[in-house]
Order: sequence, then structure tokens, then C-alpha cells
Amino acid sequence: MMVENKNLKELNTFGISANCKYFIEINSIEELQEALKFSKSKKLSPFILGGGSNLLLTQDIDTLVIHNNIKGFEVVEESENEVVVEVGAGEVWHELVMHCIEKNWGGLENLSLIPGRVGASPMQNIGAYGVEIKDVFEYLKAVEIATENEKLFDNAACEFGYRESVFKNIYKNQFVICKVAFRLTKNQHQLNTSYGAIEDELNKNNWEKNIANISKAVINIRQSKLPDPKEIGNAGSFFKNPVISQALYENILKQYPDISAYRIDENNVKIAAGWLIEKSGWKGKKIGNHGVHDRQALVLVNYGNAEGKDILALSTQIIEDIQLKFGIKLEREVNII
Ligand code: FAD
Ligand code: EPU
Repeated sequence: MMVENKNLKELNTFGISANCKYFIEINSIEELQEALKFSKSKKLSPFILGGGSNLLLTQDIDTLVIHNNIKGFEVVEESENEVVVEVGAGEVWHELVMHCIEKNWGGLENLSLIPGRVGASPMQNIGAYGVEIKDVFEYLKAVEIATENEKLFDNAACEFGYRESVFKNIYKNQFVICKVAFRLTKNQHQLNTSYGAIEDELNKNNWEKNIANISKAVINIRQSKLPDPKEIGNAGSFFKNPVISQALYENILKQYPDISAYRIDENNVKIAAGWLIEKSGWKGKKIGNHGVHDRQALVLVNYGNAEGKDILALSTQIIEDIQLKFGIKLEREVNII
């Protein structure tokens, strides 16, 4: 059912109050096509909403918001060692992860507890604790907004990168992702404990290394530093971790031997943006009803009734400060609307 002038406060994890002109929840491709016809009749470009966990609403959305609630879970291919599951875009990501662990299907366990819906997972190639969805992604089915035709994208066509895909770039606002398929292992799981904290958590609890325990370890680590959006409004990491040249890295290293960095290749180093922000004195900083989280400086938070534009202004101040202090330009990870 179409609703006019809906408030989206409950539908974004930052908990920002903003209205949209029209709002509709769709449960099937047919309903989506109907909604697209409506938006065309009104000459609007629709905005697709999943779980609202990677958005900062800085103004009202003067268009039709389509809340993608297409459900479904289907095994489309199965062999002795692998299974391919096709999942509706409206399924909750963490519920999918838990379902796979119950079935003993490996591949998604490191991505436990990431908020949001399955349909948004390819948008920024979600990643955590050494794994990105591109590692298990098989294909997705999307509807083109302009033509209402269905199109299939395989892994290469999505052009996945670090927090990037074709849907954030050349195809921005052009497709509605409806189904996403993942290739998972049924046995001989490729357990990934490259992220040191996972090994520490397994050892501390005397847990055997398997997919269920990796998931539990990741959940514990995440709960120890990331704020729960039900308690404090946030959208996870606000910025990407920047990649800088070896020369700049060596320069900074002279002054800050404790810099937190990971080597990408011979010439490039990825820097922990959380470290840069903490070193610049922003961690835990509170400005009225918003600020920088006190346990993870990469997360900006809404303590209640903050406005999106104030949080955006804070992020601009942080970007300018880091540029001045380190000569590094931080990029926002969260989608600014
Ligand atoms: P939304 O916020 O609703 O949408 C995000 C973008 O995708 C928007 O541009 C929207 O228009 C578009 N979109 C959504 N659904 C569709 C669709 N079906 N078709 C086309 N476009 C669509 N991310 C990580 O990668 N790793 C993490 O570890 C991580 N941790 C987080 C921790 C917390 C506490 C929070 C709040 C967020 C975290 N995130 C993380 C960010 C976020 O959870 C992911 O980006 C998630 O995939 C967003 O899903 P969503 O359904 O909420 O998308
Ligand atoms: N650090 C600090 N101070 C801080 C926070 C971090 O110094 O306040 C340094 C520490 O040295 C720490 C390092 O940064 O060891 C890395 O921190 P953490 O393990 O928390 O990861 P992150 O780099 O801050 C990234 C992702 C997260 C993802 C985790 C785990 C980005 C932008 N963020 O954060 O993703 O969950 O790694 O893999 O890549 C998200 O995208 O929303 C998100 C939460």
C-alpha cells in the first residue's frame, strides 16, 4: 500500500527523522514493477531502501521510497561439496548467516552480525574480519528501473572492490537488486582466521576452529566495540580505510611509529581510519546530541534527535582535520542522502 509523507526515523539505523514523499513496501518483482510504473507516472526517480543501516539522511527524500521486502531462500545448485543458494533481497542478512551455519554451509560466518538486508550486500561488497561477499558471491538478479527488465550480473559484472561495486558507480540508482546467490561449502570449509582477533577469541574460550565458533567469535568481537543501533544511532564505519602510497606511509611512520596499517602491495598501504581519527583527538568527542563513538572512532553516532546535516558537518570537520594533520583524504563509506 502506498503511503504519502512517511517518516523514516524507524527505518534508518542512525535514527534520523526525515520524511519521504511516497513510500511503498514491495514483496515481489510484480509489485516492484507496479511501483516503478507509479514512479514513472509521477516523473520520479525512486530510492531503494533496505535495512537503512548504511545511510545518513540529511534532508527529506522528495521521491518514492521503495522498501524492498522480497523474501525467499532457494537451493539452486547442489553437489557433494558445494551448494548455491539464491536469497531474496528483503531477507535479513544476519538471519541468512545463521541459517547457513545451522545447515553447516561455510563461507558467510566471518560476516556475522552485519546489519541490513541481503539485497544491499553487493552494493558495497560488504566485508568484515578477512572476508568480503565477493569471495562467495555467485550472481544477482536485478530489475532495471528504466526498462523494468530483469538482468543477471555475475561476479565479474559487479566489479567488486573494497566497499565498492558497479551499483555504487556507473549503475548508481539504475537497478533494484531482487535476488542474490552465494556459493557455499558443505564440507572442507575454508576457515578464515587471518584477522588476529578471531584466533584470540577462539583461544580465550577454548573453542575448536569451525564455522559456528568463528561466527560466535566474530559476534563477540563486534559486540565489544561496535555500538548497537537499537541503543545508539549509527551506520557502522562512517569512513573507508584509506590506501596511501609507500612514500607517504614512511613519512608518517617517522613521526608515529605506532600507526595501524596493513600492506596492500609493494607500493600501497591501507591505514586504519579509526587510528587516524583517534590520534587526532576525536574519539569519544560529543557535540550536543551527536559525536564520535568512544570505543570505535570510525563510527559516528546519534545520541538522540540529531539531524543528519549536523553529523555530515562533523564528518567534514574530521576529513579536513585528517587532511591537515596527515595529508590523507578520508572518504565517506556511508551513503549521504
Ligand atoms: P540500506 O542502508 O538500506 O541501503 C544502502 C544502499 O544500498 C543505499 O544506497 C540503497 O539505496 C541501496 N540499496 C539497498 N537495497 C537495495 C536493493 N535491493 N537494490 C538496489 N539498491 C539497494 N558494512 C560492512 O561492509 N561491514 C561491516 O562490518 C559493517 N558493520 C556495520 C555495523 C553496524 C553497527 C552498522 C549500523 C552498519 C554496518 N555496516 C557494515 C554497514 C551496513 O550494515 C551494510 O552496508 C549493509 O549491507 C547495508 O544494508 P541495508 O539493507 O541496511 O542497506
Ligand atoms: N583503531 C584505533 N582506534 C579506533 C578504532 C580502530 O586505533 O578507535 C585501529 C586499531 O589499531 C585497530 C584497527 O584500527 O586494530 C582496526 O580496527 P577494527 O578491527 O575495529 O576495524 P576497522 O578497520 O576500524 C573495518 C571495517 C569494519 C569491519 C572491521 C572488521 C572499514 C571501513 N571498516 O573496521 O566494517 O567490521 O574492519 O573487519 O573497512 C563497516 O563497514 O561499517 C564496518 C563496521
